[in-house]
Amino acid sequence: MQILITAERIQERLDELAVEIKQHYREQPITIVGVLTGCLMFLADLVRRLDMPVRLALIQASSYRGAVTRPGELQVQAELVPDLRGRHVLLLDDILDTGRTLGHLVGQLRGLEPASLRVGVLLRKEGRQELPLEPDYCGFRIPDLFVIGYGLDFNDEYRHLPHVAVLPAATSSTTDRA
Ligand code: IMP
Ligand code: MG
Repeated sequence: MQILITAERIQERLDELAVEIKQHYREQPITIVGVLTGCLMFLADLVRRLDMPVRLALIQASSYRGAVTRPGELQVQAELVPDLRGRHVLLLDDILDTGRTLGHLVGQLRGLEPASLRVGVLLRKEGRQELPLEPDYCGFRIPDLFVIGYGLDFNDEYRHLPHVAVLPAATSSTTDRA
């Protein structure tokens, strides 16, 4: 499997992102809202670097169902969305691809009247974005490849890998990308 970003490089970059986040919020309390399930590793590793007041929340939003590498219709589980009125909110997701997921969630969370709303992603895929959304924090820019590991899945597998890798062609050739 071709490793695109090593576990070590991810951890180094999280150190830098944590510094950026702490410098911006300057001890103001924030609520980090993670997008399940892909955010899990990114969120868990990042929040342990934030020595500041933090609340955590998770929301479920998914556009990929089963063994596919192209998004379908976005489904958000509204009952998981926390009360964010007056809070500084940082929305975290694993990857910015077309931007549809984060674009939708940003719109939804803004409606809850947070004091501020910022967006952080571990990865940003080049040349795929359909919506004009600039993440405030971005770990890495990657080429247009289907990647797995460090939270990212293919058919719910590979999320546990400590690095980011390219999905092997043998697997993806059985999908709709072939
Ligand atoms: P978007 O709505 O097109 O920006 O897609 C965002 C969501 O699609 C992410 O939260 C991921 O769950 C999923 N996704 C996009 N690209 C990949 C990939 O290369 N590997 C695994 N999941 C991906
Ligand atoms: Mg996701």
